[in-house]
Formats: sequence, structure tokens, C-alpha cells
Amino acid sequence: MSKLILILAAKILLLTIFASAGDGGDFASTTNPKQFNQGKLTHLRVFWHDIRSGRNPSSIMIQPPVRKYSSTYFGSITMMDNALTSDVQINSTVVGQAQGFYAGSAQRELGFLMAMTFAFKTGEFNGSTITILGRNTVLSEVREMPVVGGSGIFRFARGYVELRTKSFDHKSGDAIVEYNCYVLHY
Ligand SMILES: *[C@@H]1O[C@H](CO)[C@@H](O)[C@H](O)[C@H]1NC(C)=O
Ligand SMILES: *[C@@H]1O[C@H](CO)[C@@H](O)[C@H](O)[C@H]1NC(C)=O
Repeated sequence: MSKLILILAAKILLLTIFASAGDGGDFASTTNPKQFNQGKLTHLRVFWHDIRSGRNPSSIMIQPPVRKYSSTYFGSITMMDNALTSDVQINSTVVGQAQGFYAGSAQRELGFLMAMTFAFKTGEFNGSTITILGRNTVLSEVREMPVVGGSGIFRFARGYVELRTKSFDHKSGDAIVEYNCYVLHY
């Protein structure tokens, strides 16, 4: 008997929830299709070209660092639209663009908050994106940042990227960084 009352109560509660959701229009629904148990893991290896020198830089500091911390670039903001290529040479195939910014976020070391979207433009990935948000201590040999989401093929993405600096020109500030991206999606 008490079980029956419990079930009835649960049903009423559910009805109330659906009814109240209906009040604001049907803007949301939750399902659990089978495919959601079968994720895929995609590994992407790309080279990120941060070109700060020359006439057509792809990476531009829009906010200089706070002077007191300028050796760590704390407080600086750099916007970028960097080429992502299939190989380490800049003239290798461009597979997409890394669009976003990095901001000096550490006072006592060289560390940046990076927020960027990798917008792919070749093959099956054309039009799909992944978004990366994380901390990049650029002097470490290997850094890791989370993949926080994606679009297109990478809807519902999560994962991580591993970064390794391939070259850094102290004079120009230009850098090439290898990104190994491990992306779980459906
Ligand atoms: C890319 O540039 C290098 C020299 O920097 C050259 O040896 C190579 O042939 C070029 N590759 C292509 C595909 O143009
Ligand atoms: C990628 O998609 C865009 C827009 O649909 C299209 O114009 C372009 O030709 C495609 N590129 C490749 C390499 O498939």
C-alpha cells in the first residue's frame, strides 16, 4: 500500500515538473539514446603556428602586460588566428585555424590562460570545431589542457590536448607548438 502511494506521489511530482516545464514552452528535453554509450576517440596531431613578427602576424598582443610583472607577461592579452598544419613546416597542409586568445595569468612564472577554438577545414572534419580552455606554462616540456566541447563531428566532445614546443624564435617571438588532441565524442 505504502509502495503504491510512493509511486503515485512520484508520478504526480513528474507531472508537475513536466507541466511547469511546459509553461515556458518546450525548450528542453532529455533523452538517453543507445548511441550515447558508444563514444569514439579521435586523435588529431596538428602544429600550431604563432606568428608574431612580420607584416602579417597571426597573433597580436592587444593588451600589454602589467609593467611590474612584465617578465611573466602577467595581464597581457594576445588574440590569435593561427594556422594549424599537418606537419611542422608552415608550408605543410593547413588543416584548420586556432582562433582565440591567451592571457598572462601567472605572476611568478610564465603561464597563460588559453581559450581557443580549433576550426578544422579539411576532409571529414571540415566545419567541425573543438574548444580548448586551460593553463599553459609554456616553458614546461609537456603541457596539458582540457578540451571542453566541440561542434559538428565533435558535438559533446571532451578530452585533452598535449602540447610540446617544437621551435621558439627568441628574436621574433614566433613559435611552433605540436598539439596532440585526444577527443571523445559520439
Ligand atoms: C616547405 O619549405 C621547405 C623549406 O623551408 C622546403 O624544403 C619544402 O620543399 C617546402 N615544402 C612544400 C610542400 O612546399
Ligand atoms: C569546407 O566547407 C566549406 C563550406 O561548406 C567549403 O566551401 C569548402 O570547399 C570545404 N573545404 C574542403 C577542403 O572540403
